Amino acid sequence: MKDKINKLLSAIQEISINTTAELDEFRLKYLSKKGEINNLFNDFRNVSAEERKEVGQLINNLKQLAQDKFTTVKESLLYAQAVDVTEDYTKSSEPLNTGSRHPISQTRREIVEIFSRMGFTVAEGPEIEDDWHVFSGLNFPEEHPARDMQDTFFINKSPDILLRTHTSSVQVRTMEKNQPPIRQIFPGRVFRNEAISARSHCIFHQIEGLYIDKDVSFADLKQTLLIFAKEFFGPDTSIRLRPSFFPFTEPSAEMDVSCSICGGKGCNVCKYTGFLEILGCGMVDPNVLEASNIDSKQYTGFAFGMGIERITMLKYQIKDIRYFFENDIRFLKQFSKF
Ligand code: DAH
Repeated sequence: MKDKINKLLSAIQEISINTTAELDEFRLKYLSKKGEINNLFNDFRNVSAEERKEVGQLINNLKQLAQDKFTTVKESLLYAQAVDVTEDYTKSSEPLNTGSRHPISQTRREIVEIFSRMGFTVAEGPEIEDDWHVFSGLNFPEEHPARDMQDTFFINKSPDILLRTHTSSVQVRTMEKNQPPIRQIFPGRVFRNEAISARSHCIFHQIEGLYIDKDVSFADLKQTLLIFAKEFFGPDTSIRLRPSFFPFTEPSAEMDVSCSICGGKGCNVCKYTGFLEILGCGMVDPNVLEASNIDSKQYTGFAFGMGIERITMLKYQIKDIRYFFENDIRFLKQFSKF
């Protein structure tokens, strides 16, 4: 009898119960009316008087153990059903608001991506510059108005240390370090001493492009910019080049794209002209090449520069440049899907 009780005891201790079906099986086998433990009580009648007390105690202990096991397992199975155990309990109970890239960063990436498919690599230069890289090395005459305190933020006068007014300065840095072929774009932040309004800001971003090699022609410039315009504004976009002037290019041009809002028919965004001005460009002036020790007899090149804020405003019809700098979530989150 004692042997039987001990065997049942270790069986109950060792059994593992993982499902409600297994738990039911356990109950039937040990705890039901016709179960093993009740059967022991039936056999109890045959136990001798001296052993009764001890054996009775053993059977009661066994029954207690089986019952305890049953209730503990039942509770834990019920708990597991109530809460999905595959749930991640380290997760925050607050909904998480993820940020998104700033529209200016998105446009910069998009432009970089388009030009890198055409073989342009990316380089950057310093925001604090000297006169040579921003003006003199780019063929600006001494008396040019851009050199005026009214247009440029100076940090120091003679020697002139200033905040770059355009990313064309990185052209000069690239040309003094590398010989052609050069095919690069230079994104970055620029600074101008201008009153802040809906249309202009004293801090904004530009992307400059430079391509110098043997036999680079104006046709290459036009085709490169046409591909860019179609990729950025859509395949139906056409371009128009108007003669212009920049000290560092000859000839120089300004490029317009057909208005993506009205498709060139004329609307209030393009002021009924059908076109929007997006960038300045031209063939690099031989003086600029020579100033950086590039042989202008052997090499020619083109350059272009565009404002990132401006083309973002045109693409998404943003009416005020100041939105880009205010970090108002209501403005920024409209760009989170891009
Ligand atoms: N640097 C000019 C600006 O800030 C833009 C520009 C025009 C860049 C013509 C060029 C260019 O490379 O060829 O307005």
